[in-house]
This record gives sequence, structure tokens and C-alpha cells, in this order.
Amino acid sequence: MVKKERPHMEKTTIKTTTKQMITSEDVHLYYGSFEALHGISLDFAEHEITALIGPSGCGKSTYLRCLNRMNDLIPGVTINGSIQLEGKDIYAPKVDVVELRKRVGMVFQQPNPFPFNVYENVAYGLRLAGIRDKSILDERVETSLKQAAIWDEVKDNLYDSALSFSGGQQQRICVARVLAVQPEVILLDEPTSALDPISSAKIEDTLLNIHDKYTVIIVTHNMQQASRISDRTAFLLNGNLVEYDKTEKLFMNPEKEETSDYLNGKFG
Ligand SMILES: Nc1ncnc2c1ncn2[C@@H]1O[C@H](COP(=O)(O)OP(=O)(O)O)[C@@H](O)[C@H]1O
Ligand SMILES: [Mg+2]
Repeated sequence: MVKKERPHMEKTTIKTTTKQMITSEDVHLYYGSFEALHGISLDFAEHEITALIGPSGCGKSTYLRCLNRMNDLIPGVTINGSIQLEGKDIYAPKVDVVELRKRVGMVFQQPNPFPFNVYENVAYGLRLAGIRDKSILDERVETSLKQAAIWDEVKDNLYDSALSFSGGQQQRICVARVLAVQPEVILLDEPTSALDPISSAKIEDTLLNIHDKYTVIIVTHNMQQASRISDRTAFLLNGNLVEYDKTEKLFMNPEKEETSDYLNGKFG
């Protein structure tokens, strides 16, 4: 399938036949006068896991934050280009950013549960959305914790502080918190880099578990992780997209020399 598409491929774009959840075209981002992204065009297919890889400082987090407008919070940032969620420009003036971030949820590198109990962490977004019915809250909290593969470990301690759990458990509670508001897309920025291997494996299982319902975009430093869990991989270098392809293809038979050098550990 990929081979057929290649002749139509521009330097930094891959178009696919499945439904695209997010399309981004020629995204440039400046921190003040420093251009951190030099025109990134990347599309993300519904219900796929896409990994963003590349050396530290290449713009992975910057690009990821563009997808739910987290860069809006950083002063002096200018973004050009177009990013669409299901065909609608997410930077259009009328867009409600809170609503957008509900549809495009985010999990960060450091687990960051709120300093209250597990139940309230997961129910938080639901309460904000005005849901008061206890049976609905209970059901959504339980379902989300199950999807995040943490239910069995917390079900008897739902009213203990989320901060009393291990880092790996906290991170899965954070995933459950994002899932509870039923987003369409989940962005994860190196979600396992602060975790031990067993906890990391649980997060990976969680992502594999949920991706029939969610579109997942994950920044990872860990090549094995990218190859284990992602359908597609994008390789970024110095604010440019070098290569984007099916994960197996990119890892086994990359088109670009920079990609193979990076995968072979020649830099980064
Ligand atoms: N808030 C910021 N202000 C200015 N420069 C930044 C900021 N955040 C990141 N950068 C710069 O943008 C580039 C890309 O950074 P980043 O997106 O964090 O890379 P990665 O996540 O791939 O490590 C780097 O040169 C970094 O120093
Ligand atoms: Mg980063």
C-alpha cells in the first residue's frame, strides 16, 4: 500500500486512504525569532498509533503541542500553516480551546495527577463538564481506569490520594483522567521516560488496548517502544520532517540516509 502511494508523495508528506483525524500542513513555529519547526506536513489516521521520533531538540514536543494548542500558553510563539481536526481549522478564531483540548487530550512526561484522590482525579473533567449524576460518574471512572489498565491496582483505594501511588500507577491514572472525557485524539509526550521498564510496558499495553477507539500520537525517545506499539512513525530532525511511513517500513527499510543513520545510533 505504501509503495503505491510513494510516487504521489511530496518530500515531507504522506497521504493515506484511511480517514485522517488530524491533518497538518506546512506548520512553521517560531519562539520569538527562532524557527523551531520549518514547515511540517503530517496527517494522522483515525485509530492508529503514530510515533514521533528524533534527537533531543528536534521539535517533537513543539510539534505535538501545536496539535491541541498548548503552545498558546507560551509567550512569543508564532505559528503558521494549517492544522485541522476532522477537517476543521483548530486555530480558527471561533474555536473554543477548552473544548479542543477535551477532544485532543494530553499526557505529559512527568505523571501529574492532581493532589486529590484517584476517583476525583478521573472524575475531574466530567465534573467540569457538569456531570453530577453519581452513577454516571462511577461508571465513567471505573471504565476509564479499566481502559488505562490500572483498575485492579486502585479499585480498593479509590479514595486514597493519587500521589500515594507509584510513578507508573500515577501515569496510568493520568491516562484514565484523559480517557474519562472521551477524547478522540490522545497526545503523549514521552509518557514512559520517567518510568521503570515494567510500568512502561503497562503503559504500552494500555495504548495498544485503547487504540481501536482513539487516535494516539506519542513522542518517544525509545526506538523499541516506537517499533513495538506504533502503526506509523515520523522521524524529525532539526525542525524538519525527514521521513514518515509505516513503522515496519521506516525501521526495516528507511528511504533517507539520515533516518538510517539515526536508527543505527550514529547521532542523537
Ligand atoms: N519555550 C521555548 N522557548 C524557546 N525555545 C524553545 C522552547 N521550547 C523549545 N524550544 C526550542 O525549540 C527546539 C525544539 O524543542 P522541543 O520541541 O522541546 O524538542 P524535542 O521535544 O524534540 O526535544 C529546541 O531548539 C528548543 O531549545
Ligand atoms: Mg520533548
